[in-house]
Amino acid sequence: MSSENQYDAIAEAYKNSKQLPFREYIEAHTLFEILGDIRGQCVLDLACGEGFYTRKIKQAGARAVTGVDISAEMIKLAEEEERVRPLGCEYLHRDAADLDLGEQVDLAVAMYLLNYAKTPAELLRFVEVAYRNLRPGGRFVGFNDNVQQVPRGTVSFPQYGFDKTCANAPPQEGDVILYRVKNEDGTAFEFENYFLKPETYHWAFQRAGFADFQWVGPFIHPSQQDNPFWDAFMSRPPTIGFCAVKQE
Ligand SMILES: C[S@@+](CC[C@H](N)C(=O)[O-])C[C@H]1O[C@@H](n2cnc3c(N)ncnc32)[C@H](O)[C@@H]1O
Repeated sequence: MSSENQYDAIAEAYKNSKQLPFREYIEAHTLFEILGDIRGQCVLDLACGEGFYTRKIKQAGARAVTGVDISAEMIKLAEEEERVRPLGCEYLHRDAADLDLGEQVDLAVAMYLLNYAKTPAELLRFVEVAYRNLRPGGRFVGFNDNVQQVPRGTVSFPQYGFDKTCANAPPQEGDVILYRVKNEDGTAFEFENYFLKPETYHWAFQRAGFADFQWVGPFIHPSQQDNPFWDAFMSRPPTIGFCAVKQE
């Protein structure tokens, strides 16, 4: 595992980006619509970052949640938050690509992990980790860069606080997808994901053993249903949910 990660330098700014409205009204809303009732479940949060969703999952009634992230700075922020406002979340500074928790969980969550795979083999490794750490019947749920909606050049969403760029059209396996984010306080940062074809995702989930992998959503929070502010986001969603089940 590399000791440095692109999120080490932007950990604080990334955390602040969770204040942007699309995080609450689309991202979090969609995740919890997919999750449904998770009370009493044991959860693994892969690529937990500073613990934004780890905390939300615990607050939604999960019995135990373990967050794992490769960025030391992100884990530091998550642990600080746990010290100040204890919820009982646990954090591990690890590479999700070779994680073995030693026990199987009911639910694995990956909010923007899979789009860090640069090759089909790396994607398969992430998905296999989720599969191995899940009990039969357990679900693997998350959010991802929407690889079905790759821009030709740059697509700007200033109203939502970010733009998304891909240099090649059509995109090739492993191409960089660059996100530039501007927070409401004016701080800006960027990070890179990698493109893999939608069919590569289907292949990886099937190869790992999952049944019925599907892209899900995104959905708008009911309070925003008739708000035209979200039209651009919903007409070509830059990010999207997913869900798969480990067969009994
Ligand atoms: C866009 S952030 C999302 C953080 C968090 N899931 C959220 O939604 O707030 C992506 C995270 O993936 C982490 N990450 C990237 N590659 C990883 C890997 N191989 N193992 C664990 N974490 C990884 C980064 O360090 C970063 O914290």
